[in-house]
Amino acid sequence: MRIVVLTGAGISAESGVATFRDSDGLWEGHDVEDVATPEAFERQPSVVHGFYDDRRAALAGVEPNPAHRALGRLGDVLGDDFFLVTQNIDDLHERGGSAHVHHMHGELRSALCRGCGARMSWTRELSDYPPCPGCGVSELRPDVVWFGEVPYGMDLIQLQLTRADLFVSIGTSGAVYPAAGFVQYAARHGARTLELNLMPSEGTHFFDEARHGRAGELVPVWVDEVLAGRSG
Ligand code: APR
Repeated sequence: MRIVVLTGAGISAESGVATFRDSDGLWEGHDVEDVATPEAFERQPSVVHGFYDDRRAALAGVEPNPAHRALGRLGDVLGDDFFLVTQNIDDLHERGGSAHVHHMHGELRSALCRGCGARMSWTRELSDYPPCPGCGVSELRPDVVWFGEVPYGMDLIQLQLTRADLFVSIGTSGAVYPAAGFVQYAARHGARTLELNLMPSEGTHFFDEARHGRAGELVPVWVDEVLAGRSG
């Protein structure tokens, strides 16, 4: 059985990473237009760098939770039959044991050079305008996909959704496309669909089944079910 899992901010909430649209979410304290658009970066690069530098630094203080670890276990067993795509820019899936993670909205611990186009692993600040180690130009930006930009690897994601027997969406509000449309795309290509989220998402009616609760509880239970089904 081939499984595609899509995750959003809700899977990292119990690790202490703020979601975007909950009442204590990131977008409550920030105007999206000020920090998460290419125009914002042109207008006020230091504000944008400061926002992402703070979030990158905060990764040092958070740990993966049982939901990340359960997906790591599942990936170990299923291998190529498992595809994990996340909208999250944190690295908690990797630290939770997932060997292959498709970060469709980019990664905090990565920088993108606007001079030469290179993407590189990056763990320190960007607000001091360091030069690109490749081309030497001081044009590094956070390697995150902002509103109005195209997510990474859509062709691969669509291919994986086409082949999936089961599509599972975890901890995402279903408010942002194209990810919010994956459930319908997968279903059209024959997948069963399952939502695991604290509350019904905006697209909850598109799923064959929805379970509502905390990811740290729902995901390990669901993974155990899948693994038991394989051995039984
Ligand atoms: N367990 C499961 N789900 C949870 C938990 C939890 N402990 N806590 C919150 N949630 C759910 C919320 O109910 C909500 O539906 O997670 C969802 C988080 O939704 P958003 O904050 O909108 O995050 P996400 O869906 O990942 O946002 C998508 O929007 O702003 C952009 O680029 C950003 O990748 C992000 C995209």
